[in-house]
Amino acid sequence: MKTVFLETTTSTNTEAMRSGEQGAAHGTAVWALEQSAGRGRLGKTWSSRRGDGLYVSFVLRPQVAVEELARITLVAGLVLARLIRAKVLPGREVGLKWPNDVLINGKKVAGILVEAAPAADQPSFWVVAGIGVNVRQQLKDFPDHLRQQATSLRLECGQEFELSLLVAEIRDKLLAEVTRFEQGGFADILDEWRMFDCLQGREMECVAVDGSVVSGVALGPDTNGILHVRDRAGAVHEILSGDITLAGTPKPPR
Ligand code: BTN
Repeated sequence: MKTVFLETTTSTNTEAMRSGEQGAAHGTAVWALEQSAGRGRLGKTWSSRRGDGLYVSFVLRPQVAVEELARITLVAGLVLARLIRAKVLPGREVGLKWPNDVLINGKKVAGILVEAAPAADQPSFWVVAGIGVNVRQQLKDFPDHLRQQATSLRLECGQEFELSLLVAEIRDKLLAEVTRFEQGGFADILDEWRMFDCLQGREMECVAVDGSVVSGVALGPDTNGILHVRDRAGAVHEILSGDITLAGTPKPPR
């Protein structure tokens, strides 16, 4: 299976989009040692210094209906959470924060940015799943404002990781899970995702892209990946996208 390796690039998601447009096969990985314009969700940047993290994007062509494609974010999140859980030291708890952050003891260790290809003139629908994992950072490598909020595999697993092996392992597990999804297994995937859900039942606040704020108790994602939140008045809101903060924790930097 093909891996495009780049010493440096703007964003592996951009490169994977380009590869996908040129017909790259399902499972093609684009992996770079550093990114000059790494992207996070909601227009944020993803710090991508050489030597710190894993920056990899996969072209995925799942055989599912186009309206099911959004579920890929949850599929990828579950794969990453499981994989990281198998590596952390005892006493560390791995969680998922909707829609796509992987946390260890409440600190972010990895994020996922799924971008759908412009499908109009394409023979089939496909997506790019970009994965960023903090791998080698020591505490001092994180800026002051992130030290309470971010962590790395080195800090939580007490060992070094070979990036190429992580790419291979993530791809194997991601493709296996996408096959399960294609075969109708999404309900089981979602059940398992919920076991990692660290928002479920907790007071939280969501700031949407348009600046509107919803506060309440997280009820978890539905089968379309939409987060449900019950406010104090008992009304249930459906959140498509937004920045989530747990009550009593610092706001993430914007
Ligand atoms: C997030 O948590 O906001 C998502 C972060 C996703 C970062 C990865 S790094 C590899 C790929 N290329 C990018 O530009 N972004 C994703």
